[in-house]
Amino acid sequence: MNNAPRVINSRAGLDSVLDSLDSEVMRAVVPTMGALHEGHATLIRRAREHVGPAGFVVVTVFVNPTQFAANEDFDRYPRTLQSDVDLCGEHGADVVFAPAIDEMYPTGPTQITVDPGPLGHVLEGAVRPAHFQGVLTVVNKLFNLTRAQFGFFGEKDYQQLVLIRQMASDLSMGVDVIGVPTVREPEGLAMSSRNRYLDPAAREKAELVPQGMQAGISVAATGGSGDDVMSHVQTFFAERHIDVDYVVVTNPELGPAPESGEGRLIVAVRVGSVRLLDNCPIHLGVRS
Ligand code: PAJ
Repeated sequence: MNNAPRVINSRAGLDSVLDSLDSEVMRAVVPTMGALHEGHATLIRRAREHVGPAGFVVVTVFVNPTQFAANEDFDRYPRTLQSDVDLCGEHGADVVFAPAIDEMYPTGPTQITVDPGPLGHVLEGAVRPAHFQGVLTVVNKLFNLTRAQFGFFGEKDYQQLVLIRQMASDLSMGVDVIGVPTVREPEGLAMSSRNRYLDPAAREKAELVPQGMQAGISVAATGGSGDDVMSHVQTFFAERHIDVDYVVVTNPELGPAPESGEGRLIVAVRVGSVRLLDNCPIHLGVRS
């Protein structure tokens, strides 16, 4: 499919398109902050496959200020709307909703916010205290504005996916949250809008991140516990002078790692001024 999507900047514009849809048309949303790459493109294609050719797919492009702390990269976050719109068209979106900040927050940051609960304060939430409150609040607004029945999110931001799924379920939002596996560069680096900040030397170091995770998977495959995996991966990064924010093994819902069965290996490291997040499924215990 390669149709130019409609670009809509206002809530009123979005409402009038949504009002014109037949009630049986299935509606999907792919929330993004733009600077789109093949990871986002994959979410858009999954959304299109899910709702079918007659369905409605909206990609939102909004760099949400409330999920950035004062010292973070809100101002320098890449903004590439025209190429984003082209990519959305190539992968089957009907509409790109790209509101200005005033359109989303006409009276400033919302008085009412979504509290992410305990899981919002571990891992990324420990490093970025107000981050998930900002994410959940804006995703809730985007679900409402787009009247979505299906929301597509990447496993790349695994804690975000788990929290959004829990929000939709706990607050009975009627949105089916669908996770999509991480899309990687040929060398294994997870695609990210922030990878463009990596200079060639940093890029080379960044490519060690998936290698460190593979080393952890090998430890688990020979019977190592979650703790064994964590210390092995930490040592792998330390030996290569990569600063670790955290390396953890959890269960798929981010609780304690099981002795055997499916777990999740989650890492956050710093390469120069760039924070890199990655994660993968990991099987613990000897397979029967
Ligand atoms: P952004 O970082 O633009 O990511 C938008 C979506 O693309 C997220 O669901 C993210 O997990 C997914 N994604 C990013 N890189 C990916 C990759 N390599 N493979 C698969 N999926 C990938 O995440 C956000 O924006 C914001 O927090 C948002 C949810 C839009 C709220 O503001």
